[in-house]
Amino acid sequence: MISGTSVDGIDVAVADLRLESGVVELAPVRHAEVDLPADLRARLLAALPPGPCDAAGVCALDTGVGQAFGAAAAALAGAVGGVDLVASLGQTLYHWVDGDRCLGTLQLGQPAWIAEATGLPVVSDLRARDVAAGGHGAPLAGVLDRLLLAGDPSAAALNLGGIANATVAGTAFDTGPANALLDHAARTRLGLPCDTGGAVARRGRVRADLLDVLLTDPYYAAPPPKSTGKEHFGAEHLDAALARVPAVDDADLLATLVQLTATTVARALAPYRPTRVLASGGGVRNPALMDALAVALGPAELTTTDALGLPAEAKEAYLTALLGFLTWCGIPVDTGTGGGARVLGSVTPGRDPARWPEPVAGTANALRIAPAGRGSPQQDSSPPSTTPDPVPAGGPHARP
Ligand SMILES: Nc1ncnc2c1ncn2[C@@H]1O[C@H](COP(=O)(O)OP(=O)(O)O)[C@@H](O)[C@H]1O
Ligand SMILES: [Mg+2]
Repeated sequence: MISGTSVDGIDVAVADLRLESGVVELAPVRHAEVDLPADLRARLLAALPPGPCDAAGVCALDTGVGQAFGAAAAALAGAVGGVDLVASLGQTLYHWVDGDRCLGTLQLGQPAWIAEATGLPVVSDLRARDVAAGGHGAPLAGVLDRLLLAGDPSAAALNLGGIANATVAGTAFDTGPANALLDHAARTRLGLPCDTGGAVARRGRVRADLLDVLLTDPYYAAPPPKSTGKEHFGAEHLDAALARVPAVDDADLLATLVQLTATTVARALAPYRPTRVLASGGGVRNPALMDALAVALGPAELTTTDALGLPAEAKEAYLTALLGFLTWCGIPVDTGTGGGARVLGSVTPGRDPARWPEPVAGTANALRIAPAGRGSPQQDSSPPSTTPDPVPAGGPHARP
């Protein structure tokens, strides 16, 4: 489970995972986007930088997010007939970047509530260890991407959340804003949570003067690995740029912000000359953004992770499941954000006494997406496998 910087809902996914001979097999079982309670969402948006937030506010939000995640996990686990382990990336409240280093990162969603709601062990706080190990703690998508693209060095992965992140040539980094500024403009100018379908952006024209001002931000020129968030690319950033140019109408503003994402992603990937870019995240549902990206990335082909069997809108939720599985198996992961390889996260025991599996010897070298529904009795239409269970199979009770 994860709620991204867009705070648009909890992305929840159930996956059946197993590891054999260094190959992780991930079968998507089911995914859902669960609404956050409206008042919680409003309080989160108000508390995100540059909003004020005191310790009482952090406590209330940590509790509320934990309870909402617990309910979401219990519902989806029940819908698929039970799961073994929950992994949560929570809700990032603050990502502390100073220059080229990440000094700290804070995710909300107290895992005790998830353990209470589900009775299951919970892997959480996956970013903090990467930061402590010298990495950026974000994006973590590189863990999945690098395994998935292991056989195709000319491919890049691109997730279009509030912030856009890319994995290319083994490095994972945030390229800059994807939907964060678009959503801010939609909220303040249109009174809408987002520019659905890119309808307003499509009516506008790119304002070159505003685009030029936005592109002067030093983040874009900094070398990867690097990470960012709404702390940097938030309301203040956009307002400051708008103050430097003549009035910009609503449609032109959205068109310009679409182009900002397309241009900055294309510039970030250009040195690596990828031939194929696999997109995911909520931004793939914005055709104005996808069209602009396709043009900017050309001649590289722009497609989505659906082409590989990984549902694009739920990629980060499946990523979270993968991270939890790797932690449970005791496998150190190199996130590609600049730190060393570590077993990530903290584990909260479930209803039963904690039974930690023996760490798996060796490592994971590749990821194979198995047909959706494999391993899910409710959805599995394929005949039962005749091969013996690979190791470790079946999640947290697995033994290598
Ligand atoms: N139909 C749509 N049209 C335009 N934008 C959309 C649509 N669906 C989702 N989005 C965008 O995707 C964002 C959510 O993407 P998501 O990957 O969940 O980001 P995050 O990880 O930051 O939560 C929304 O805030 C919105 O900007
Ligand atoms: Mg989201």
